[in-house]
Amino acid sequence: MAPEAAPLFPSLLLLLLSLLPQGGLPSWLLRKPNIHLRTSDPDFLAAVDSWFKVLLPKIYPFLYHNGGNIISIQVENEYGSYKACDFHYMRHLAGLFRALLGDKILLFTTDGPEGLKCGSLHGLYTTVDFGPADNMTRIFTLLRKYEPRGPLVNSEYYTGWLDYWGQNHSTRSVLAVTKGLENMLNLGASVNMYMFHGGTNFGYWNGADEKGRFLPITTSYDYDAPISEAGDPTPKLFALRNVISKFQEVPLGPLPPPSPKMTLGPLTLYLDGELLAFLDFLCPEGPIHSVLPLSFEAVRQDHGFVLYRTYLTHTIFEPTPLWVPDNGVHDRAYVMVDGVFQGVLERNMKHQLFLVGEMGARLDILLENMGRLSFGSNSSDFKGLLQPPVLGQVMLTQWMMFPLKVDNLVKWWFPLHLLKSTKPQTPSGPTFYSTTFPIAGPLGDTFLYLPGWTKGQVWINGFNLGRYWTKQGPQETLYVPRPLLLPRGAINKITLLELENVPPEPQIQFLDWPILNSTVHRTYIYSLSAEAQSASEPMQLSGH
Ligand SMILES: *[C@@H]1O[C@H](CO)[C@@H](O)[C@H](O)[C@H]1NC(C)=O
Ligand SMILES: *[C@@H]1O[C@H](CO)[C@@H](O)[C@H](O)[C@H]1NC(C)=O
Ligand SMILES: *[C@@H]1O[C@H](CO)[C@@H](O)[C@H](O)[C@H]1NC(C)=O
Ligand SMILES: *[C@@H]1O[C@H](CO)[C@@H](O)[C@H](O)[C@H]1NC(C)=O
Repeated sequence: MAPEAAPLFPSLLLLLLSLLPQGGLPSWLLRKPNIHLRTSDPDFLAAVDSWFKVLLPKIYPFLYHNGGNIISIQVENEYGSYKACDFHYMRHLAGLFRALLGDKILLFTTDGPEGLKCGSLHGLYTTVDFGPADNMTRIFTLLRKYEPRGPLVNSEYYTGWLDYWGQNHSTRSVLAVTKGLENMLNLGASVNMYMFHGGTNFGYWNGADEKGRFLPITTSYDYDAPISEAGDPTPKLFALRNVISKFQEVPLGPLPPPSPKMTLGPLTLYLDGELLAFLDFLCPEGPIHSVLPLSFEAVRQDHGFVLYRTYLTHTIFEPTPLWVPDNGVHDRAYVMVDGVFQGVLERNMKHQLFLVGEMGARLDILLENMGRLSFGSNSSDFKGLLQPPVLGQVMLTQWMMFPLKVDNLVKWWFPLHLLKSTKPQTPSGPTFYSTTFPIAGPLGDTFLYLPGWTKGQVWINGFNLGRYWTKQGPQETLYVPRPLLLPRGAINKITLLELENVPPEPQIQFLDWPILNSTVHRTYIYSLSAEAQSASEPMQLSGH
């Protein structure tokens, strides 16, 4: 099955770092609750048009035929995997790109084999994506039904795979990846590797998939790629280079060596205080009031955390289930009564916990956005409490929403000794810990290890490194690039927002290698009252 026409691309191999948009829609689109993302809904098209009318004219001078280095541009991304299958929308995009970029540039689409039907469009060059374990013959034969002529292109050849919290670490063997590449090149196909260089989902920027349930992606996006998260060459890189050298001359000369790595610690962290104690700093504007809870989008919080607060209207003597109808916790909730941590609710995973409390007791529910959907059929994924919580038989109303600026607090306010450091409680609930430290030796890249900590967010010198979830895995260390660290003579600062349990020894350590493959811990302790919560099915609200 050789290509039937001369390659469209200037070189035998299309080997690009993947710049494909992964999970790239701004969350403010969801401030219009009825918007249909990635369809010909006029509200969505208006946003698309205004964006591309700015972006594409900037790109125009850099097209290949204008003397630039852009040889081709992709329209949408794996659109065929999205449930809408709206050809009007795809035609609108194709028309917009043509109007703004002209007729000379090659426009293409990318889909998995199952997505070709809804993702490809006459007038856009159809490419396909798949990994080393897939049947290349079958997939390229299928591609020919959509693109009878021209080069065969695998526009995302999977050199590894991403990780989800609570699932095993993903790897793809060097042998499988090199063999797959060699087979494709023997066929004369063009290949783009995804990923060629992995990376890090710093801050709150990880995406999530929905495969039967909501699956947030880990902070590390190392991906077992040929170039590691830290930018180092791996054996996979050299093996792939070997394969490529059989088909095309590779540049002479040495590759850059791995970056120097650094170790430090263990360091002991100190209690700054409970999150609730800093509410005035975290939300200086004060709360938004509403009878029913409002989503993150409605209170214009794009990521991170919103605190939901109400007061009990009657005394709860017996342990009584708190739950949110319709799986309406998006995505994780940390529950406190009068400031005392009660446990966690989690989308798809943990539907209720049991509370007692006096009339007038303060109920605080800290909601965490665990990441936006970045692939698949569903994408209007609102965050926060999407339904009013129910306590026993009573729907809770009269809410205050506090959108939290946690990063501002960490950057500008700490250390802020409001409270005398006390011995940590177990479980602690959302609590800040920090310490300062000098680095005497030479700086290097390093990997932050948080043994015994449960789940939270961590900052180095005010930079949000991302989420840790040591008690879940598989990721146990966070990549810390050298430029985030301050040299001898300056003081470095690390801050943790631990959301659940502080270890008896509140320590951290910097290692000179990453741990991304720990065994997954499926059953760690969520709260003190875990035994009462073994019945995980939500109760039915009477009258519904
Ligand atoms: C791959 O697909 C082709 C065409 O459908 C089929 O003939 C072949 O048996 C498949 N190979 C494997 C290993 O499944
Ligand atoms: C995950 O890894 C563990 C330990 O190696 C293994 O026992 C388990 O079967 C794996 N689970 C899956 C779904 O591959
Ligand atoms: C998409 O969302 C709907 C409504 O929330 C849900 O019923 C469905 O299971 C979701 N689809 C997938 C693939 O999870
Ligand atoms: C994790 O990877 C390291 C390095 O490749 C290996 O030595 C270790 O055995 C792996 N651990 C697990 C639990 O798979």
